[in-house]
Amino acid sequence: MSAQFNVVVCGGGNGAHTLAGIISCRGVARVTVLDVYQNEAEEWTRTLAEKGFRVNFPNGKSLYQKPRNVNFNVTKSAETCVPEADIVVICVPAFAHDLYLNLVSSYLKMDCMVVGMPGHPGFEYQCVAILKTLKKQNTVVSFETLPWACRIARYGEEVCVVGTKEEVLCSVVYMNVDKKSGGQVSDPLPKLQQLLGDSPVLRHVGSVIECTLLTKSTLHPPLMFAKWSNWDGQPLKETPLFYQGVDQNAVDILDDVNNEVMEMADAIAKQYPELGLPKIPSVQQWLIHHYGEQIEDKTTLLSCLKTNKAYNGLLHPTKKTADGHFLPDFSYRYTTEDVPYGLLVLREIAGMVGVSTPIIDKIITWAEPNIGVHFLDKGEICDIDRSQARLLRSFGIVNASDLISL
Ligand code: NAI
Repeated sequence: MSAQFNVVVCGGGNGAHTLAGIISCRGVARVTVLDVYQNEAEEWTRTLAEKGFRVNFPNGKSLYQKPRNVNFNVTKSAETCVPEADIVVICVPAFAHDLYLNLVSSYLKMDCMVVGMPGHPGFEYQCVAILKTLKKQNTVVSFETLPWACRIARYGEEVCVVGTKEEVLCSVVYMNVDKKSGGQVSDPLPKLQQLLGDSPVLRHVGSVIECTLLTKSTLHPPLMFAKWSNWDGQPLKETPLFYQGVDQNAVDILDDVNNEVMEMADAIAKQYPELGLPKIPSVQQWLIHHYGEQIEDKTTLLSCLKTNKAYNGLLHPTKKTADGHFLPDFSYRYTTEDVPYGLLVLREIAGMVGVSTPIIDKIITWAEPNIGVHFLDKGEICDIDRSQARLLRSFGIVNASDLISL
């Protein structure tokens, strides 16, 4: 198959490794990785030349590209790849979205698609705020989650896919197209599906707010909170399993957080029935829907987490001490991304739609000293620098009617 379009993958972590490896083997697109973080581009370029690139799958199969036959390259120069791109996929933790969006925006072609894979709450609003001044007809797509659970095995050389989701929901925003006055748009999902192959299946959600409330930034912080909020500070002999090590208390907190998000959706649905906003699924329903037969025992949320093959062996983020023990690593994205770019955004939405969120507040407050930012003061969201959190009010979204404007 000859490559039909140009794709730029922004990032250099687990997701970017997997995405670049998979698309470049499918032969439908010319792929360039744009990675401006530290010296990753240099390191990745060197390993590609020396070792080639491999994506491993849980069924034992792998996609391998030999040195000198690798179908993608890695650069830190946006000006050399973005102007030709038909699709720019941003595949980094949300705290790096602002950097990449600002970096690529001025080079984007008139109709280039910009994809947040995943977007996390607020991605679409942030994109619109940055891109609208360009007056181009970019299409913004936000994935509710990453298509895979994946981890780099060797940097720039080998990545392991632990599990692939069966379905991923996507929101779509057409910039500067007035559909009411006959502006033409084309559905971006078939093209993205071509890049990924058969799975996961990409499906539209009805609205941006639906995608926002569905994103699972609500998974990691409750599990971190459950595990570490009563920790005695003593180093551990081994690193605990993240999902498969959960107990009933952790599962209850997970459900409580999701219930608060469900209440937000119900409040919006009541205020704007014309939106057709569906009920937010329980965490158990969400897991079964996304992982299907990869879950051995679907009876309860606890059993779903413990028996999901896609979660096999995934550990709590920890740091090793000099004497070989382990301490929790609160600088990992489970805290530093999922609170300021996830729970906090949902907390802001709750305020706009009049829902109280005692559990979410408790988790955000617990995370504050671990992240080093004061987020909540007497029940109100503080003034927070844009480099430390994604707040919708910095994009002009301040009430429920703004929320549903996209
Ligand atoms: P990761 O933790 O592997 O990302 C690290 C990479 O992000 C770095 O190597 C660097 O390229 C980039 N980066 C980090 N800080 C940066 C900075 N200050 N400036 C510029 N670039 C920076 O993340 P991963 O695993 O690739 O995840 C990507 C997204 O997918 C995240 O939003 C994550 O929450 C989400 N996700 C990941 C899953 C997984 O299994 N890896 C599963 C579900 C969602």
